[in-house]
Amino acid sequence: MKGLTKILVSKAELQYRVKELGAEISRDYQGQELVLIGILKGGAVFMADLMREITLPIGVDYMSVSSYGNSSTSSGAIVIKKDIDTDIRGKHILIVEDMIDTGLTLQHLQEHLLTRDALSVKICTILSKPSRRLVDIKIDYEGIEIPDEFVVGYGLDYAEQFRHLPDVWIVDTVEL
Ligand code: IMP
Ligand code: MG
Repeated sequence: MKGLTKILVSKAELQYRVKELGAEISRDYQGQELVLIGILKGGAVFMADLMREITLPIGVDYMSVSSYGNSSTSSGAIVIKKDIDTDIRGKHILIVEDMIDTGLTLQHLQEHLLTRDALSVKICTILSKPSRRLVDIKIDYEGIEIPDEFVVGYGLDYAEQFRHLPDVWIVDTVEL
């Protein structure tokens, strides 16, 4: 497809890592009430794979958020475009995301969910670009670290294209 340069993370590598994360989460949350919150749209593909690797009873819900992208403002800086309908009071929450880049969106979302009296709010992402981080955010379950490249596939898009690709590709946005 036009603009796609090369595969950075293959379908097989993603699958392998998702299995490992699922096993780790299943161990860590044994006996606890866990709700996965998938972040739309990008996190939907990872969410669908991850939940099937978790061997505990869990709740699942989805949210769509955008951030004003200002590190100096707090949880007020998040815009919720689609909210969950689960009551998360007293429950353990795991946010399921496609990519942590600057970390701003997730930092704001984490703070926001804690104000709703969740017992804990942790973060799970399949991809991460540590070199781009602007805030000090703890990623509890980090799938695969990648360099500072713009990638698409496995839920990630460029201008709403390429989300459906099974592998993660580096995209040359100049060509598009
Ligand atoms: P941040 O961590 O707040 O900077 O935002 C992370 C979000 O930006 C991710 O959930 C993606 O939706 C988007 N994003 C960051 N890097 C990429 C990329 O390489 N390709 C596609 N989307 C990206
Ligand atoms: Mg996203």
